[in-house]
Amino acid sequence: MSETRVPDADPGGPALAIDVVGLDKHFGDKHVVVDLSLQVREGEIFGFLGPNGSGKTTSIRMMCGLLRPDSGSGTCLGYDVIHQTEQIKRRVGYMTQRFSLWEDLTIAENLDFVARMYEVPRRREAVARALRALGLADRSAQLAGALSGGWKQRLALAACLLHQPRLLLLDEPTAGVDPKARRDFWDEIHRLAAGGISVLVSTHYMDEAERCHRLAYIAEGRLLAQGTADEVIAGQHIAAWSVAGRDAPDEVARLRALPGVVRVTSFGNTLHVTGHDAALLEQSMQSVALREHLHVQRIEPTLEDAFISLMDAPAAGRTPRARPVADGASR
Ligand SMILES: Nc1ncnc2c1ncn2[C@@H]1O[C@H](COP(=O)(O)OP(=O)(O)OP(=O)(O)O)[C@@H](O)[C@H]1O
Ligand SMILES: [Mg+2]
Repeated sequence: MSETRVPDADPGGPALAIDVVGLDKHFGDKHVVVDLSLQVREGEIFGFLGPNGSGKTTSIRMMCGLLRPDSGSGTCLGYDVIHQTEQIKRRVGYMTQRFSLWEDLTIAENLDFVARMYEVPRRREAVARALRALGLADRSAQLAGALSGGWKQRLALAACLLHQPRLLLLDEPTAGVDPKARRDFWDEIHRLAAGGISVLVSTHYMDEAERCHRLAYIAEGRLLAQGTADEVIAGQHIAAWSVAGRDAPDEVARLRALPGVVRVTSFGNTLHVTGHDAALLEQSMQSVALREHLHVQRIEPTLEDAFISLMDAPAAGRTPRARPVADGASR
């Protein structure tokens, strides 16, 4: 099998860690990934979002050569995802969605075992380095099965870094992990990216999505948005207002019935009102502002607003903007 990397499709553009075009995958008669094209630039942290079952894991496995697509093509670290899968596997660290190390081995034994599998040169040194780098040295004799969720994820990350990969594929690495451990894990991801490693990471957490350089959103196997957080938000054409005041929580039903209002979300005594027709929503909000006890203010839409809007939009290509207001009013 050739070791030669595929020449860049666009030599003038940014160097790409992942560059796939038109990937398709069926399981039985179910079309689970549909015409997926995605580019991850070298050195960036790229977030991959989408509801459960939308095709994130399947896409990740195709992008790193673990699963053969039915059609489509592309490269991972410059190697062909169909014909050069061995070269890709040697250079990629893949952290699977579920903890897949050995619970009855210690931390050090797990790392040593993985280092043997990857035939990592100077194995002992590599294991010691991984233990130090992720703050696991003091715990090296602990059984993996006895670790908390956060520490298990750190161990899994250490294991997939042993062979010094250039690209990390992290599939929901922080699911079920507490906020402090998640933040520490993300600080680590940023340190790795600053050192030149590219990262594709799937997540359901908005704060994590905001920490990515660029993002993609997939639903029912189709990519619905790709870009920086600001680009993804702008692409949804959402207008947002806050309605605050002691009695604001009692206003939810009334606000939902107003023209232009698609969604009303409560944050304590503040309501967050969004819609896609900015002018209509502004008229409605001005009518609300006339009521003395409510303070109404236009605000910037958030990434969460954008993703909820994308979740509501059918994957078959209808944009949320085209959706009748009455759909949202019942929500
Ligand atoms: N090996 C398989 N055989 C049959 N169907 C599969 C297989 N793997 C995944 N699927 C189906 O493909 C679809 C996409 O699954 P996938 O695991 O890629 O989604 P996901 O976005 O990673 O979901 P989650 O957020 O729950 O991890 C789902 O309907 C799933 O049931
Ligand atoms: Mg998954």
